[in-house]
Amino acid sequence: MTRRWPRVAVPVGVALAAVLLSACGSSGSPSMLDPKGSEASHIAGLWWLMFGIACGVYVIVAGFIVRAILHKPDENALVDGGEPSVTRRFDDRMIVWGGVIVPVLILAVLGVVTVTTTNALRRPEADALRIDVVGKRWWWEVTYPAAHFTTANELHLPAGRPVEIELTSDNVIHSFWVPQLAGKVDTIPGQVNTLRFVARTPGVYKGECAEFCGIQHAHMGFIVVVESAGAFDRWMLQHSQPPLEPASEAADEGMAVFNAQTCAGCHTIDGTPAHGDVGPNLTDLGERATIGAGALENTPSNLARWIPDAPGVKPGVLMPQLTLSSRDVALLVTYLESLK
Ligand code: CUA
Repeated sequence: MTRRWPRVAVPVGVALAAVLLSACGSSGSPSMLDPKGSEASHIAGLWWLMFGIACGVYVIVAGFIVRAILHKPDENALVDGGEPSVTRRFDDRMIVWGGVIVPVLILAVLGVVTVTTTNALRRPEADALRIDVVGKRWWWEVTYPAAHFTTANELHLPAGRPVEIELTSDNVIHSFWVPQLAGKVDTIPGQVNTLRFVARTPGVYKGECAEFCGIQHAHMGFIVVVESAGAFDRWMLQHSQPPLEPASEAADEGMAVFNAQTCAGCHTIDGTPAHGDVGPNLTDLGERATIGAGALENTPSNLARWIPDAPGVKPGVLMPQLTLSSRDVALLVTYLESLK
């Protein structure tokens, strides 16, 4: 008996540890169990239903395992040529119920609820805000077609309005996931997938690439800023115009450095001669929260670190090391941080 108990204790212990660890790990990471949108609420509801059923099945099966360990086998269960005992008949009925009827009922319920939920997630809305997102190596290109502007690694959305995000990739498969707002959808080269949802609560939500895509998969983050309709309209209006002329002499010199160096060959800044399309559009870089899709917080000192040596910060990134004087780096930082 003393040797048998650990066999029961191990799976119970593992299950409890998994629940406790997942609770501990929630600080700082977005959780799909803390939904802030209609679609995320549907998904969380389905998750809780599945979790509840799984817990029920686990407790019942574990109960039978414990009973089987504690009870001696019924020696009259198999009587040669005679009538099966009461225990044997009970066991046979349990096999039919536990092995066939109950699993079929559970799968039927989950099948219906899953199909209903999936249909609810795909319903198109007439007044949806369309956004195009392309998974890059390793960042996200974000375009608002109606306002004709492109940004990177940040989406702004109006609270309460349906959005329709058209997702694709120009390299490998990535997966676009904002756990608190919607389910994950893959970005696949040569194919456009659509993600629809409504964000209900204003706030800033973290998104991640949820499909392993290479050396910097872990640094392919983005943020979604959900704001009131008025704030969102102001943001759209501001972004549908090119940035203002550089306001200081240093920023003006920084713009000249940007266009004279290789920067302008890879990046676009609206309203300037820079029209590269390899790296992110930098038209509103000064107001973005991070550099390198979450690799660094966007501060002047971090930008001064990134510009000459992006591969040193984020190995594998397409942006090369640049040979620039410290004065040129300082001018570039002043210019780029002024772009809003
Ligand atoms: Cu992109 Cu993982």
